[in-house]
Amino acid sequence: MKFLVINGPNLNMLGKREKGIYGERTIDDLKDYIKKECKIIDENIVVDFFQSNHEGDIIDKIHEANTLYDGIVINPGAFTHYSYAIYDAIMSVQLDVVEVHISNVHKREEFRQKSVTAKACIGQISGFGFDSYILGINALIKNKG
Ligand code: DQA
Repeated sequence: MKFLVINGPNLNMLGKREKGIYGERTIDDLKDYIKKECKIIDENIVVDFFQSNHEGDIIDKIHEANTLYDGIVINPGAFTHYSYAIYDAIMSVQLDVVEVHISNVHKREEFRQKSVTAKACIGQISGFGFDSYILGINALIKNKG
């Protein structure tokens, strides 16, 4: 199985930004953690990574992924809360997509409690730190049956 992990805006700043919320670890630490945990789930899982601060680049990547992957785990960052274009991109492909968040967006500012992108996804996982991504990959696997 082959999965794509997409990280949206400001997630390249992990380890530097709001450490009290997002922790001390960097995006490279996140990638290493996901690769390590995927190996434990199944030696044969391939996982690719993409991060961008630009909405259009994320949309292009979702379109490209359509025939290349078995599913996407996406943390759209702040685009979660207002990007109908990313919602439409997810709706445009046949892929299973799980939305993840490092922090629990439901116990933060009111604007974070609304996700426009989650409506296009199988589901949303929020608040488990880096493990949100692992739970997301497990959700994709289980959903495939
Ligand atoms: C985030 C939550 C978003 O509200 C925020 O804009 C982010 C990160 C999270 O992973 O907790 O950039 O998606």
